[in-house]
Amino acid sequence: MVNTSLSFESTYWPFKRYTEVYKRSLQDPEGFWAEEARKLDWFKTWDTVLEWQPPFAQWFVGGELNACYQCVDRHVKTWRRSKVAIYWEGEPGDSRVLSYSTLYRWVNKFASVLKNLGIGKGDRVTLYLPMVPELPIFMLACARIGAVHTVVFSGFSAQALADRINDTQAKLLVTADAGFRRGKLLELKNISDEAVRLSPSIEKVIVARRGNVIPKMKPRRDFWLHDLLDKAVVFVPAEPVESTHPLYILYTSGTTGKPKGIIHGTGGYLVFNNSAYKWVFDIKEESVYWCSADVGWVTGHSSIVYAPLCHGAAIVLYEGAPDYPSVDRWWDIIEKYGVTIFYTSPTGIRMLMKYGEDEVKKHDLSSLELLGSVGEAINPEAWQWYYENIGGERCPIVDTWWQTETGGIMISPAPGIEYAPLKPGSATFPLPGVNADIVDENGKSVPTGEKGYLVIKTPWPGMLMGIYQDPQRYKETYWSKFPGMFYTGDYAIKDKDGYFWLLGRADEVLKIAGHRVGTIEIEDAVVSHQAVTEAAVASKPDPVKGESIVVFATLKQAVSPSLQLKSEIRQHIRRTLGPIATPDEIYFVAKLPKTRSGKIMRRILKAVASGSNIGDLTTLEDEASVDEVRKAYEELKKEV
Ligand code: PRX
Repeated sequence: MVNTSLSFESTYWPFKRYTEVYKRSLQDPEGFWAEEARKLDWFKTWDTVLEWQPPFAQWFVGGELNACYQCVDRHVKTWRRSKVAIYWEGEPGDSRVLSYSTLYRWVNKFASVLKNLGIGKGDRVTLYLPMVPELPIFMLACARIGAVHTVVFSGFSAQALADRINDTQAKLLVTADAGFRRGKLLELKNISDEAVRLSPSIEKVIVARRGNVIPKMKPRRDFWLHDLLDKAVVFVPAEPVESTHPLYILYTSGTTGKPKGIIHGTGGYLVFNNSAYKWVFDIKEESVYWCSADVGWVTGHSSIVYAPLCHGAAIVLYEGAPDYPSVDRWWDIIEKYGVTIFYTSPTGIRMLMKYGEDEVKKHDLSSLELLGSVGEAINPEAWQWYYENIGGERCPIVDTWWQTETGGIMISPAPGIEYAPLKPGSATFPLPGVNADIVDENGKSVPTGEKGYLVIKTPWPGMLMGIYQDPQRYKETYWSKFPGMFYTGDYAIKDKDGYFWLLGRADEVLKIAGHRVGTIEIEDAVVSHQAVTEAAVASKPDPVKGESIVVFATLKQAVSPSLQLKSEIRQHIRRTLGPIATPDEIYFVAKLPKTRSGKIMRRILKAVASGSNIGDLTTLEDEASVDEVRKAYEELKKEV
């Protein structure tokens, strides 16, 4: 029996079309997804839509296709060959425009470069690049020859890059001499050199030129991209790969110190994204679509590269910071390219909101038709500002909930199917084929209006295929808390009209400016500083970033606390993990609040960090008595 779990009773209904499509998708998921899959070009049709051996799902088994072919070759066979694929805007103000035929030419040549360096099907390639066109081109070139790409966000440190390379055992690293960020040059090749020293699997390094810096090049290991392109051929066939062939591995933070290598396959991932993208953004031939995320996150993979290009859309790709050289840069870009769909994060909106409406009014934003939000819950105030000032009160906002693991958008308004009345702050309803529910600690659906855990009750084609080299962790992380259901790690609530409201993470994962960071990863980094014995991390609300990081640390006996030490620890974290994990506050304390079994009482940390009280002690998640918790809370509060 399928549990559709939506209340169709409310005064808001009927959204007739959405309801019909949603119901059908859950009653006959395989028939539904087969129909959606036919919208792509397959070299060989699948034999079985879904092989579900819980918790491992294989979609479109027996089918063969190629992701690069879907995104590029398919379009150059039509009039779209002369359509713009990518409007690229560099931070210093330079720009490049690539048509689909230019993109085709480049993906072929880049694929040839990869092959000439001995890369083939199944090989892992690490991409550590700024937001330049070479990044999506390399992703597509990897896909073209069946190699598996791992994009590492260019803000990550050498250590974080090395960890990811070592986990995938990549043979090839692609980087750039440097990238621009807020007017400064980030010397990526130097960082890469440091990472490669820690990554013995890397045999070759390709360096793209962007910043005009002259890095050291190690003979026979490091190659300039432009030199390799000189020797490249102009056509490399798109290799048919099995639907279940991994397209990429992308690392994301979880509840341990080690990031998880999320594997996405080819067929299911593309089918899901192709459909979800159409439903959510109602993409049209004439749309100009801009997603301001970095390609280093899943939003960049699915919502900048694979889904839009599958549709032959014209996309904008911007290299730099939203407020550089001035705080109206984003609005300037929207005006310059006539953007019709703009997709960004609540942090971005809140940051630019601070500068006021006058900055927006300098620009003609009348091309906009639809706005989107992703990465964290959008607070009603930011929603309203976005709606009024950017969307001119005429553009609906699609608040899209999803995760690295889900591959594509799961809960969101779907104007491509039917408009539902929006409620600021709610991601509204699950997309077709997404069997979402909210359950209590025992896995039972919670009544309307009650907070619970968001779960997905049946497989969907975009779902991760596993965690790289760690099937056990995959089972434990997602499928053991509620047997038979995918655990998202998020709290949610459904209102009387059936709308979903996302309430943040239920686990030890923080969302800093929409970026996912694990508390334990940060704790490990703090403890690796020689002055520290123990550390615990919590977050406090931040008006722009949503959450900011607060560290509580105990010091070695001989060490005295000082401001200098705080700044050293801050630097140490930046070097170990990267700037996104920089704490806002560091408190040195005598001891950390722990239960008798040694578990850190995180609620106490959170309450102290945010200056709030501990709330209702009767629903304690910590295995300690009310008195113990209260005492530990008071002690810690006194210290900070
Ligand atoms: O907590 C949810 C939050 O972001 C988490 C997933 O992070 P990541 O894998 O980095 O992917 C982000 C971009 C797809 C979720 O578990 N999140 C994402 N979108 C929303 C959200 N929280 C509330 N509302 C959203 N629209």
